[in-house]
Amino acid sequence: MYKELIRKIKSKKIKVAIIGLGYVGLPLAVRFLKKNIHVIGVDSDIKKIQQLKKGESYIKSISNKTISYFKNFNFELSEKYSSIKFADVVIICLPTPLKKNSKNPDLKYLFDCAKNIKKYIKDYHIVILESTVYPGLTQIFIDKIVSNKKIISGKNFFYGYSPERENPGDKNFNYFTTPKIISGYSDKCKILVNNIYKHICRKTVLTSTIKIAETTKLLENLYRSVNIALVNEMKIISNKFNMNIFEIIDAAATKNFGFQKFTPGPGYGGHCIPIDPYYLSWASKQVGYNPRFVELAGQINTNIPSWTVREILKNKKLKNKKNINALILGVAYKKNIDDDRESPSYRFMKIFNKKKIKFDYNDPYLKSLRIGRNNSIKKKSVQVTSKNLKKYDFVILLTDHDIYNYKFIANNAKLIFDTRGIYNNISLKNKNNIYLL
Ligand SMILES: NC(=O)c1ccc[n+]([C@@H]2O[C@H](COP(=O)([O-])OP(=O)(O)OC[C@H]3O[C@@H](n4cnc5c(N)ncnc54)[C@H](O)[C@@H]3O)[C@@H](O)[C@H]2O)c1
Repeated sequence: MYKELIRKIKSKKIKVAIIGLGYVGLPLAVRFLKKNIHVIGVDSDIKKIQQLKKGESYIKSISNKTISYFKNFNFELSEKYSSIKFADVVIICLPTPLKKNSKNPDLKYLFDCAKNIKKYIKDYHIVILESTVYPGLTQIFIDKIVSNKKIISGKNFFYGYSPERENPGDKNFNYFTTPKIISGYSDKCKILVNNIYKHICRKTVLTSTIKIAETTKLLENLYRSVNIALVNEMKIISNKFNMNIFEIIDAAATKNFGFQKFTPGPGYGGHCIPIDPYYLSWASKQVGYNPRFVELAGQINTNIPSWTVREILKNKKLKNKKNINALILGVAYKKNIDDDRESPSYRFMKIFNKKKIKFDYNDPYLKSLRIGRNNSIKKKSVQVTSKNLKKYDFVILLTDHDIYNYKFIANNAKLIFDTRGIYNNISLKNKNNIYLL
């Protein structure tokens, strides 16, 4: 039966169920579909399922055309877990956020799912967790879904962990060219999981255990968090010495060994870097070690917006001014994408509100937003016109979307605070109204 499974996978005769069709799950579904592998997409958000059934995508990187094409082909969609009964492989792509009032893991999505899929798990199922988790959580998840004594892991039931490494908006690397970490409970599990991903990845990297794979993902994001914090802190120091941090970083990056370039910004955002390190610190505390780097990096990055606003208000044109109004450019947490999760732009909005600075925003990828308590305030993206730019006491550049005409902005805004260093590389006759922060 195991050999039969291998043969089925290699000949693409499998059905892959993907639970959670969000930023990770939906693109993953499309990758399998493009390789002629049948996909059963499951999401508890019925609106998403209905949209997909109508051929509409809710993720910028996936077109309506793609969804329309595959939904008539081999893409089944359901809000019900029972559909996984018909799958050979079940891949879990559910959110793993932090709890609202603490930095502790919020596992309700995973555990809700575990409770509900339990009755549909059958022998010879292959279950793969893709969500970001702390060391040991895959095993906890599996223990929650396997209760039938006839199901024996590694013998007639297989599982593994394979973290997502998507870098939204990256033009140099895509999913196929990014090596994929693979792990499995046993050697047979590893071989099965590996063969599944071989259809959609050029290179797979097998780790000896599931825990190693889980922790690899956390290290990758912690590495980014710590290095972003380092350059963000260097930015504050450079500002005190009246030096341009980007010039220092570019000079350091000429060293051909031992230095990897990270750039400072308005803080940090996205669904991974501000969250995942806390999974590691929480897990570490459970085993008796209180990590320092992890949380310090988080604090530094989170405090960058308040430092920036303090610096803005020191500007001579704003110092004694009342009724300041500002234009925020960019709400997505990074350039050229429509993902605003954990975006530092929202921290700026909160601080502006506290300081009674009125603001509007523009983001070409986010036409409207909901902000404030209980998301009760709806804000629409204003246009970046000459008339509009002139209206604001200052413009703050928070997301360096390529679509912006930076010369036009500089020529029309009264005052610009650039948190991305974009104006370092733009030649202008006069940069007197531009400040790097
Ligand atoms: N977004 C990224 O770029 C990225 C990159 C690497 C890793 N990850 C990790 O991948 C995981 C998924 O992230 P995401 O960005 O795709 O999240 P997401 O919020 O975009 O998508 C999750 C989907 O799961 C659905 N869902 C929630 N609870 C459900 C349930 N009980 N049953 C079925 N469906 C349910 C939601 O409706 C949503 O469509 C997380 O652990 C995240 O940390 C994300």
